[in-house]
Amino acid sequence: MQTIRGRLTAWYSIALALTLAAFAAVLYGARRAASYQDLDQRIQSEAALTGGILTESYRARGVLVRGDTAGRPVLIPDLAALLEAVPDYLIITARDGSLLFASPDARALTFQQVEQLRLVAAAPISGRTSGALQLEPDGPKLHYALRYVTDAGPQFGAILAGANLRSAELSAEQLLSTIALILPLGLVTALLVGSWIARHALAPVDRIITEVREITDGRSLHRRLAEPMVKDELGRLTETLNQMMTRLERSFAALRRFTADASHELKTPLTVLRAGVERAITMPSLPSEALAALEETLQEINRMTELVEALLMLARADEGTAPLHRETVDLRAIVEETGETGELLAAEAAVNMEVATPADPVIVPVDASRIRQLILNLLTNAVKYTPAGGSVRLQLGPSNGRVTLTVADSGVGIAPGDLPHIFDRFWRADSARTRTGERSGTGLGLAICKWIAEAHGGTIDVQSRPGRGTTFTVTLPRETTAPTPGGPSS
Ligand SMILES: Nc1ncnc2c1ncn2[C@@H]1O[C@H](COP(=O)(O)OP(=O)(O)OP(=O)(O)O)[C@@H](O)[C@H]1O
Ligand SMILES: [Mg+2]
Repeated sequence: MQTIRGRLTAWYSIALALTLAAFAAVLYGARRAASYQDLDQRIQSEAALTGGILTESYRARGVLVRGDTAGRPVLIPDLAALLEAVPDYLIITARDGSLLFASPDARALTFQQVEQLRLVAAAPISGRTSGALQLEPDGPKLHYALRYVTDAGPQFGAILAGANLRSAELSAEQLLSTIALILPLGLVTALLVGSWIARHALAPVDRIITEVREITDGRSLHRRLAEPMVKDELGRLTETLNQMMTRLERSFAALRRFTADASHELKTPLTVLRAGVERAITMPSLPSEALAALEETLQEINRMTELVEALLMLARADEGTAPLHRETVDLRAIVEETGETGELLAAEAAVNMEVATPADPVIVPVDASRIRQLILNLLTNAVKYTPAGGSVRLQLGPSNGRVTLTVADSGVGIAPGDLPHIFDRFWRADSARTRTGERSGTGLGLAICKWIAEAHGGTIDVQSRPGRGTTFTVTLPRETTAPTPGGPSS
């Protein structure tokens, strides 16, 4: 079971089922015992009542037994008629054990069964006065009470009152079937109620999950979860998460500050270094070896300056201190200008370059230098990752009320597994390749492109097929819009 909700519901239902089953068992037992007791009381009082009637009648009339037509002793008709009204099995025996009276229920039994009853009643006085008796063959099981008649004349032996045990069992069984009917209903209700309770109890957890999920990167770390008024477990969890986010936000800010400060501090010594090397390089009569070493150093210094500048820009972007200086410009001018630089690069790499702009002006409010940087980054990549003889195409065109810039090349392409990472900082497809070798780079170019596009409220996308080429598509809104949240991931 995947969710706590499911587990809670299951536990709740099992606990309830066990409770119900135990309750039902106790109820059934109690009901059964009570029914047996009722039955016992009933036949005891039937026997007592019959005994009372016999005693009273004897006092009033004297003789209660007389011979029937066959000469067998029986009760006098008046008395017999009176006793007919007694329910259940009732028999009265004479002192010699012969049968004086049998109730309608008893008369309905077979001769053999009546004989069984008679024999019980005719047992010596010391015998049991109550018990259970199975009437043979396949007759009912009776619970009986025996009462010896001592004060109704010399003829009487005993009264036996008995009732079918089934009647006692029946009421308990009825209860059992009612329970069997109610139990599944109760369980289904428990399942529904349980899952409802669990869902409601855990709804705040789902809310917390959603809220935490929305905090995707360093830029949304300023957000806090809504803290409930009640400081229950979830309230405390929310509080703890919020405190954790405060700490995270602080460390992120410190990290950005550090990167920004470090890059800034590196700029001055780099400038001094470059000036020094440039001065040394122009010195006359320098041995060619020293010249080569100085040139290499200068190249490295330039690369490092670029890196430091890129780092500083990204750090400032993260801090929110890299504002855009928007001005309304014709994007065609920027595209053509950067296209020319691209053509120089392309010519150097023996790559064919093409620039396409629409006939109508494309006026948009952008930070011209940033957009220039974005296009140049994409063009540099396109030329860098396209072998000699390939082609690069830079195109500007409006689409759906937005402006679209595409840089397409016929180069080496990007493996599908690499696509999700190419906008990450310092990520390079072939990191094994040395920084100074062919296709050198730091892996910050696309991260900067992404930030520039998003800071303008636009997007940047890539499509690529290994060996066939890559197309980067940048869309920019025609009007100034707030930058999309998120920005380059921190
Ligand atoms: N047009 C392209 N064709 C093929 N792969 C590309 C292309 N553009 C980028 N990539 C891949 O994406 C990676 C990241 O590009 P990114 O521009 O961020 O870094 P870089 O060019 O290596 O270094 P730099 O910081 O100097 O630009 C590159 O290393 C390369 O593997
Ligand atoms: Mg690059």
